[in-house]
Amino acid sequence: MEQAAAEEHFRSLVPDRGPVLERLEKEAAERDIPIVGPSLGNLLYLLTLTSMSQKVLELGTATGYSTIWLAKAAQNLQGRVHTYERDAKLAEEAKRNIKDAGYHNIVTVHTEDITEALPKMADSFSLIFVDIEKEAYAQVLPDLVDILKPRGLLIADNAGFEEVRSFNERLAKTDGFDTAFLHGFFAGHSPERDGLAIARKRVS
Ligand SMILES: C[S@@+](CC[C@H](N)C(=O)[O-])C[C@H]1O[C@@H](n2cnc3c(N)ncnc32)[C@H](O)[C@@H]1O
Repeated sequence: MEQAAAEEHFRSLVPDRGPVLERLEKEAAERDIPIVGPSLGNLLYLLTLTSMSQKVLELGTATGYSTIWLAKAAQNLQGRVHTYERDAKLAEEAKRNIKDAGYHNIVTVHTEDITEALPKMADSFSLIFVDIEKEAYAQVLPDLVDILKPRGLLIADNAGFEEVRSFNERLAKTDGFDTAFLHGFFAGHSPERDGLAIARKRVS
């Protein structure tokens, strides 16, 4: 397929996602909020479901768009989602959106800088999704490696960003993980051409 035709084709294939997610996509476009969009959102949903992840940690909530995709899967598994947002206004907005989508009982929005929360975190998680300031990815990696359960998934958005290069290189060299890096077109993602890292922790 020619590139423009392929992009149009894959944009036409994104799944129905209900009024709340569609409203958040519209608002994100109007307000220039970078969200994962429907194709990666759907992938997060599928990865959470297929990995049977009942304890999900998200770094970078914004308005709660990706959180809702994760929560949709977690609810199917009787699981929970913890998400961290350092901007208090965005965190409040995310709480309202998550409530509108019906997931407030299984999602906790923490209004805190994750780089401060991580060193004190005692919990472990079966899926961790990273989508914070890109310069902090490499800094948080060692703590994330520690708190991810065996067989757990670590997923990092924006792996195609220059600022994420050192994180990718460190992740690729991290012992005890099987890792895939993807680069391509993700319909509705901000930006639509980007990368994604997916790493699974081996059982030692
Ligand atoms: C790319 S947006 C998240 C988008 C969201 N994951 C989605 O797809 O709907 C990144 C968010 O992370 C927040 N953030 C950045 N660095 C952070 C940090 N160190 N701790 C907590 N939140 C952070 C920003 O305020 C911003 O709202």
